[in-house]
Amino acid sequence: MRLLENNIQSYDFYIEKENMSHQILKGLQAPVKSISSKFLYDHRGSELFEMITDLEEYYPTRTEKKIFTESIEEITKAVGDVHTLIEYGSGSSNKIKALLHNFTSLKEYVPIDISREYLFQSSLELAMQFPHITIKAVCGDYTAPLTLPLEEEGKKVIFFPGSTIGNFEPIEVRNFLMKSSQLLKEGDGFLIGVDTKKDILTLEAAYDDAKGITAAFNLNLLKRMNHELGANFDEEQFEHLAYYNEEKGRIEMHLESQCDQIVKIGESEFTFHEGETIHTENSYKYSIDEFQMLALECGFRPSKVWTDDEGKFSVHYLEK
Ligand code: SAH
Ligand code: AVI
Repeated sequence: MRLLENNIQSYDFYIEKENMSHQILKGLQAPVKSISSKFLYDHRGSELFEMITDLEEYYPTRTEKKIFTESIEEITKAVGDVHTLIEYGSGSSNKIKALLHNFTSLKEYVPIDISREYLFQSSLELAMQFPHITIKAVCGDYTAPLTLPLEEEGKKVIFFPGSTIGNFEPIEVRNFLMKSSQLLKEGDGFLIGVDTKKDILTLEAAYDDAKGITAAFNLNLLKRMNHELGANFDEEQFEHLAYYNEEKGRIEMHLESQCDQIVKIGESEFTFHEGETIHTENSYKYSIDEFQMLALECGFRPSKVWTDDEGKFSVHYLEK
């Protein structure tokens, strides 16, 4: 633990290289090649994600922010006297500010993210802006076992915005919700942003924008493997692919090989056929009913839900 400002502590539980090379090699050795979407977020990946959030086609961020702005009084009332706020995948922490201003009983805020520099930089800024709140910035992988530095007393609420929950597979999402529920006691809560099902054109445009920023975000994974794992991917020989898989209710992102080729990662060699892909992300979409059923199965009582006029995005408050 390191003290950065009077009201900020940093905890670094993440060992990138070890985790990354083992998990990536395993994913590429499988018959259908895949890499976990968590590896999209090196510093450049986080910058590109921030650019995505400003795109015309990428409706989730601005729609969720609008819901927070318009319903902040009701959200504050539903959440009640919270002592500890834990945020998964906090990124640039830009959605939390509205909550920190309004949750007046809050004593500690615990952002958790895998993207180290982004996490510590945004936490420092928040610490200066909210000197009465203790900020415990945790660099770690929330899919791995993590012991969080939480105070025992008071009400705890988990905040998980951005529909990042959609990046989990059905089994993973259940494990994650059940593990999260174990951090909480009865009456504690979970405030979560979830993207809804909608027409395919809107969904696919959001993940394949005209300026090519989402393509750059996806292809940046190849650059990252070249820099950090000694790989020799030729970015020109792969293309970004994003489509809605209606049966599974998810957007899939892939990197498609444009030719037959062999790529090296350190000492290991991987063969790609023309048209073969690396599956790099799933983004599941849930109707409000589907998500409430899921929450119920995992030990939560759906208490309140807010949405925009067009029902494009939802924010749920669940109680343990
Ligand atoms: N909450 C922000 C950012 C969403 S992007 C928003 O709503 O706009 C997803 C964030 O989750 C990124 O900051 C990424 O670094 C982080 N992330 C993804 N997988 C993670 C994991 N397994 N453990 C910790 N952080 C993760
Ligand atoms: C962070 N996550 C919820 C985003 C999403 O919509 O699945 C990441 C993203 N991928 C492509 N565009 C945005």
